[in-house]
Amino acid sequence: MNILILGSGGREHALAWAIRQNPKCDRLIVAPGNPGIAAVAECADLDILSRAAVCEFAQENAIDLVVVGPEAPLAAGVADALRGAGLLVFGPSQAAAQLEASKSFTKEVCDACGAPTAAWARFADAQAAHDYVAEKGAPIVVKADGLAAGKGVVVAETLDQAHEAIDMIFGGAFGDSGAEVVIEEFMEGEEASFFILSDGVNCLPIGTAQDHKRVGEGDTGPNTGGMGAYSPAPVLSQEIQDQVMDQMIRPTVAEMARRGTPFQGVLFAGLMIKDGRARLVEYNVRFGDPECQVLMIRLGAQALDLIHACAEGRLDQVSANWADDHALTVVLATQGYPGDYQKGSVIKGLADLPEDSFQMVFHAGTAEKDGVIVATGGRVLAATGRGETLQLAHARAYALVDAIDWPEGFCRRDIGWRAL
Ligand code: AMP
Ligand code: GLY
Repeated sequence: MNILILGSGGREHALAWAIRQNPKCDRLIVAPGNPGIAAVAECADLDILSRAAVCEFAQENAIDLVVVGPEAPLAAGVADALRGAGLLVFGPSQAAAQLEASKSFTKEVCDACGAPTAAWARFADAQAAHDYVAEKGAPIVVKADGLAAGKGVVVAETLDQAHEAIDMIFGGAFGDSGAEVVIEEFMEGEEASFFILSDGVNCLPIGTAQDHKRVGEGDTGPNTGGMGAYSPAPVLSQEIQDQVMDQMIRPTVAEMARRGTPFQGVLFAGLMIKDGRARLVEYNVRFGDPECQVLMIRLGAQALDLIHACAEGRLDQVSANWADDHALTVVLATQGYPGDYQKGSVIKGLADLPEDSFQMVFHAGTAEKDGVIVATGGRVLAATGRGETLQLAHARAYALVDAIDWPEGFCRRDIGWRAL
């Protein structure tokens, strides 16, 4: 099989690394890719938001399966265009990607199918939003309705913060994504992520994880894309997973099919767990980054069989075989992230690191310059360990971290603390 993966982050490196191990994978191309990915796949320069460019490239290269990594091409309808051209794709249509691209859409779907989530209201008018928060009181959560690169959510502890957030969003901080505001009840509890493949009809859970969104140790400081993750997440017991499948995931998938916009791809459910019950915080329509790194090191080569079955609509014929193992990934970021940071610092020591199914450094924001690896992004590397226990996975991940020579980088030393 010739496979094309779209994307260039740690998530796509992990996908490529797992897929490459499967003997069914012949040619593997990642567009645009990165220097880490170049060790396991061909990298191709391609505008992955251009439907025409992606279709033409896939056809020219006799691609049998396209795996879409990030949300932006999905929201731009790249999967629809590929399917329209007769290609096999893993990833939802533009209509189904609204489960991530529009918060109010997701809330309507939840209401229609009875999926447990926070009470909510939607506003196109600032005054009505101000009146609503004044009536409800704080804490309360204010969100831009559309995609805002993870920055469109304000958990307001006071009414002043809530009013400020409403003004910020309607003031145009997120452009068209903030044309409408969603206001939600604040949910207390512990957050965890649940990943489910759906082919539009069948659903297959493929793992749980917990990430660390805050930049600083002890979960302090500003939010980031994720500073580390581990899998499985013990808070998501089998009982809660069963409850989520019955009350949330299968009803959501059925509701999407009923609307004529079936969801095919990976559904990433962000859950809030309290007193043995889970409620939905949000859906994403792609793998998490860095959650994908821990899922892929655990799944290995079978990831391709599952993704392929998902794209072909035969998820009912496959199952995920889990070893009784744990994985943990530590993100190395450039100093200054998530604020301003310098680009171009040199990273040494990568060539001598072990690379196997227990220890792997996935690349995100790196580039190769004159034969050396330099940092080009905020999140740059994901040092990932796997083992029979979380302690072992943790030790292996941090052994990689400690062997990397990069004074301009930093990481959190407490990834996994909740479970350790
Ligand atoms: P989202 O982009 O919707 O995932 O929101 C980002 C983060 O805000 C979540 O991971 C939660 O930590 C927090 N959050 C969002 N909605 C709620 C809510 N209704 N109650 C409590 N926390 C929330
Ligand atoms: N790590 C969170 C995300 O990928 O959305």
